[in-house]
Parts: sequence; structure tokens; C-alpha cells
Amino acid sequence: MTDDFNLAALPSADGVWHHLHLAPEALGAGASGLPDAAIVVEQGDIAWVGAHADLPDVYRHLSTHDGQRGLVTPGLIDCHTHLVYGGQRANEFAMRLAGASYEEVARAGGGIVSSVKATREASEEELFDASVPRMQALLAEGVCAIEIKSGYGLSLAHERKQLRVARRLAQVFGVTVRTTFLGAHALPPEYAGRSDDYIRLVCEEMMPALAAEGLVDAVDVFCETIGFSLAQTEQVFQAAQALGLPVKLHAEQLSDMGGSALAARFGALSCDHIEHLSAEGIAAMRQAGTVAVLLPGAYFTLRDTHMPPIADLRAAGVPMAVSTDHNPGTSPALSLLLMVNMACTLFRMTVPEVLAGVTRHAAQALGLQATHGRIAVGCPANFVLWPLGDVAELAYWLGQRPTCSVVRQGRLAVDGMGLHRMSPLPEHPPL
Ligand code: NIG
Ligand code: FE
Repeated sequence: MTDDFNLAALPSADGVWHHLHLAPEALGAGASGLPDAAIVVEQGDIAWVGAHADLPDVYRHLSTHDGQRGLVTPGLIDCHTHLVYGGQRANEFAMRLAGASYEEVARAGGGIVSSVKATREASEEELFDASVPRMQALLAEGVCAIEIKSGYGLSLAHERKQLRVARRLAQVFGVTVRTTFLGAHALPPEYAGRSDDYIRLVCEEMMPALAAEGLVDAVDVFCETIGFSLAQTEQVFQAAQALGLPVKLHAEQLSDMGGSALAARFGALSCDHIEHLSAEGIAAMRQAGTVAVLLPGAYFTLRDTHMPPIADLRAAGVPMAVSTDHNPGTSPALSLLLMVNMACTLFRMTVPEVLAGVTRHAAQALGLQATHGRIAVGCPANFVLWPLGDVAELAYWLGQRPTCSVVRQGRLAVDGMGLHRMSPLPEHPPL
């Protein structure tokens, strides 16, 4: 497949965007909505934002873009994905329907290691090609930043291959990608019965080599009875700390292993899943400023019934993010808005909570809060225009994606609302 998605070929969003309805919180925590707002984009960055009536004279000579009174949110952020992998696992979905549990499928040689086999068999080019439509689906829905984990390679060469594809997706699509090294996702078959040896390989060879190649923005572990122990998780975190890499954790998904409290001790960016999170875990996360990443797609797919402790997280003031957890096993989800809906319907999160969950708090879960997750002067221009009257519609519609327009990294990258036709954008030829 050719690299023909180049963002630089798309129309520049520079100029004054007017006829905008800024969603509540778009300007930051606690900000109210603005019904007649304007955004000035200069050289791809936000230069000014506020009520249109207050637009400074200095910007009045710039070209204008009519936002058609669209509802404007910051670019969405999918802060937990396993987007790059070979094959798919519909067969396991069928096995679970016939009565097997996720753990039973994993122990029978399915689960993560079956994706490892398919990922190892795929070339870098094939992995890239398989990942493109997944990325396109998320981008079409307003995603402007995304986390991509490794963890289906489980050897230096194959983890490298996954992470290189993630970096290439960032470059080709002009989207912010944070890569997470998840070498400790599962035990590769060649290390059966030798999990400590494998963890040594992860810590002493794979992580340093991949970090030195600039392929690792953060480090994650699957801390679980069918994953790695608390002690092994700590070893991986120590290795990450020694390399100056932030950590995050797949924690308390199927049982309470105490992983979240451990992660918090290492100042983790986030603890993710956390269905079985304890009161001690919540307290530790609050103290460390660790984000709770909620993954309703996995909860739904596994037909989990053990709810994450949303009310307690809310009461403690732990920031909550929502993500697809896109992966071939537990969450083959490619709609962040569907996750927003599920976070409301299944987890009873409120509309302001889920909105922060896919913008500000998701940015924090990736360490991107200075530049992403809100519309602020100096940040790259990442925002979405929705043909919606009420912000609650973002969570309400089920199975029909609103046709949004997306300004990503200063370019009109998606134009579902036909804004380009309404007010031709300067400098670049039509799409
Ligand atoms: O986030 N829990 C561990 N990892 C993934 C599942 C990966 C898989 O089943 O392939 C998750 O749910
Ligand atoms: Fe995951």
C-alpha cells in the first residue's frame, strides 16, 4: 500500500473559524460552552479562541472558514489501543459463545498468543496494511491522538516491527501517536514455564534496545493471573524507571492483584481496566495523579458483570478516561463514540465525564495534557466540528456515526460536513 494519506496534501485550516458552538469544557476544566465562538489557526496552531464578538482586530483580515454552527470539541484521544496486530480472533468469540471463558480460551493456546503467532508471521508491510483501515475508522470519528501498544510480537524483532508500524502510522496520517512497549503482555510459547527468564529478556534486552531506537514512549504490563505477577510487574517498572520511561498498567481486570497501588508508587500515567480495583488502589491512584482508564468495550465483549468502581473513583476525584482498548481478543471496537455510549449506559458515567474522558483526561493518560485534549492558544489545532445541537448527542446515538469535520494538526483532515465546499480553504487544491 502506498503512503498516499499524507496530511500535508490536505487543505490548511489557517484562518478564522467562525459560526462555531464551543462545547462545554472545550477550553479546559470547568469552562462553559460558547454559542457563537471563533477559533484562529495560524501555522497549524491555535492562535486565539473565544467569543466571536471579542475577536481582536488583528485577525479580521485573515481568511474565514464557516463552521456552520457546528458543535466544536477538542480532537478526541483514544488512549489505550492494541491497533497493530496480525489476523483476527472471531473463532474465539464463537468459542466463548459456546461456553468457554476468556481464561479457558487463553489456557487452551488461544487468546493473546494466537495473535502473537499471526503477528510474527506478518511482514512489517502487511502489519501496516492491516492497521490502516483501523486507523482510518478512528480518525473518521474525530480521533486526533492515539496510543498504540506493542505486545503481540514478544521478541525483540517482532516487538520492534509492531512499534515501527505505529510510528509509520503517525507519520503517514499526521496523527499524534504515543507508543507503549507491552513486551510483558503474555508469555511467548518458547518461554513456557520460564516466565522469570522472559521478564529478564524484556527488562535487559528488549526494552533498552527499543528505547534506544526511539520506539518507546511508555511501558505497560498485563498484571494478572493469566499475565504477569506483581513482582514481575515491579521488575519491568524498575527497568522503565531506569530508562526514564513513564509506566502504565493493565490492572485488576479479572482479579485484584494490587497492581494499581504498585503502579501508583511508580507515578504511573494510568491504570487501565480496573474492574476489581480496591479502595487502597483508588487512594494510591488519587495520590499519584494516576488516570483511571475505563474500557467498556472489553467489559461488554467479555460480558463482564463486575463494574469498575466508578462512584468511588468519582468521589475520590481520580480523573477518568474512556478508550476503545481496540484489540483482536477482548475489544474489536473501532468506534470511540460507541465506547462513550457504553461508558454511559454500562458504567453510568455522565456526559461531562465521558467528554473529559476522551479529551482532557485521555491526554493526561498519555502525558499529553500540555498540548492535547483542549482548545488552547499555542496547542496544535486539533478540533472536531459536529453537526449536532446538543453535546449529549455524542453519547446518545448508537450505531450511526455523526458525519463530523476534523481539523487535525492544522489541516482539514476529514470533511464530513462539507465545510470545504461551503467556504473554500486557501493555499491548497480541493480534496
Ligand atoms: O486490554 N488484557 C490484556 N490485553 C488486552 C487483550 C488482548 C487480547 O486478548 O488479545 C486487553 O483486554
Ligand atoms: Fe488493553
